[in-house]
Amino acid sequence: MAPNKIKITFSKSEPKDKKIGLVSLRKEKDNSVFILSSGQKSIVIGVPEPEKITRRKLILLTRQAIVLAKQNKIKRIAIRLADFGFRHLRLGDRNLAELLATNFEMANFEFVKYKTPPPEGWNFVEEVVVVGESAADVRKGFEIGQIVGGEVNACRVLANTPGGDMTPRILGEEAKKAAKGTKIRVKVLGKSEIQRLKMGGVLGVARGSAEKPTFIILEYWGAKKSEKPVVLVGKGVTFDSGGLNLKPSKYISEGMHLDMSGGAAVIHSVVLAAKLRFKKNVIGLVPAAENMVSGSSYRPGDVLRTMSGKTIEIGNTDAEGRVILADALTYAKRYDPRLVVDVATLTGLAMLTFGAHASALLTRDGKLEKLFRELGEESGDYVWPLPMWEEYESEIKGTFGDVFNTNAKTDYGGTITGAMFLYQFVKDSAASSGQVYSWVHIDMAPRMTAAEGEYLTKGAAGAPVRLLIKLLERY
Ligand code: BES
Ligand code: ZN
Ligand code: ZN
Repeated sequence: MAPNKIKITFSKSEPKDKKIGLVSLRKEKDNSVFILSSGQKSIVIGVPEPEKITRRKLILLTRQAIVLAKQNKIKRIAIRLADFGFRHLRLGDRNLAELLATNFEMANFEFVKYKTPPPEGWNFVEEVVVVGESAADVRKGFEIGQIVGGEVNACRVLANTPGGDMTPRILGEEAKKAAKGTKIRVKVLGKSEIQRLKMGGVLGVARGSAEKPTFIILEYWGAKKSEKPVVLVGKGVTFDSGGLNLKPSKYISEGMHLDMSGGAAVIHSVVLAAKLRFKKNVIGLVPAAENMVSGSSYRPGDVLRTMSGKTIEIGNTDAEGRVILADALTYAKRYDPRLVVDVATLTGLAMLTFGAHASALLTRDGKLEKLFRELGEESGDYVWPLPMWEEYESEIKGTFGDVFNTNAKTDYGGTITGAMFLYQFVKDSAASSGQVYSWVHIDMAPRMTAAEGEYLTKGAAGAPVRLLIKLLERY
């Protein structure tokens, strides 16, 4: 399984125990930058120009400390908080402690569930001694940071689990397990309930698979019931073969069991809000299905009737995420939400656009766009906007159905038209604003797996749990 949480202890002075490696960020006298890892003694991660350090770099340095300790089989390390406290970043002790703890946990994580442990055990860091500072707000910061990091890692376990062991039904069971001990109510709707709700999108995508779809609902009522909730919606495609529009071989093998990463992030963000006892109402919705090839698969050209009543004309069975999300965005209306955020590994094109470093952010609300960018920067789950102009809408008009699930005319702008498709199920001509609820779409395909150089192990990156929890805290 995942490593245990790191034990955080506090000490007035530097520990004498030679087994504890001291991690120092201080510049060496001769200004050299080097990383030294001598036995159990000290790890120096030199910071060449402290005045130029950014929050982004600080996150990486924090993780680097853990990664170096692991590489050198040092299980206990000590840090001086002041070393990490760069004044111009204006973090404050509590936020700094939270940032450190979250990223220590994330860097310590490895997905070893399916590996035989080596005889000498895994090289996880077991203890971090914090030297000098032990004020209440510092302790609190570490405590919260560890809870956040733990939930990010739990999200990574769900996402990394192979498709054969992470079916729509199992994802539902995992949501229940994750919510155990919290105030969250979890309901997992099965196929017959999904039929009763007339969710033709979810049913269509799932039709080619031997695994039945589920619709997972997490309700956290942390405030008065009369307060409108924030609804998080996550794509839960447990394996995406592409369906009859089968993906080219290498694309099937490249992580398509991670296509429920948005769903995993939603599950663990709701759990995190409950664990941190937010006085907010938060709902998580995860439509879960497997996109497979068989004699019963949905076909290109099929027209599916969704829960909203709108029909979807299937141009490509591989654009399945938006088809199941359409039903979830309709279901969300039952909660009269103040905000809906959907998170999905929706388009490979988002990766072509942003590389591995930012999720695509699409919303028609300028204030929300600004807020999300700021929270992204603060949390480390970076997001960057793309436009949602009406000009793009004509591309997804259906010929024989209301909406087309791919671009009808060109292959260009696929991340935007993906969002534009979802918008058709958000907007409501009956509402004066044009929308029933405020809405943000995060195409997290670029952040599905960890990027080179970010000091995280291969596989799921756990995005955007850190962003969502900041949102739930502030919004
Ligand atoms: N799950 C994929 C997108 C994806 C690809 C996420 C690679 C992460 C890594 C999605 O269902 C998909 O196949 N999208 C198509 C859309 C197209 C058919 C309009 C794509 O990106 O090619
Ligand atoms: Zn697909
Ligand atoms: Zn997909």
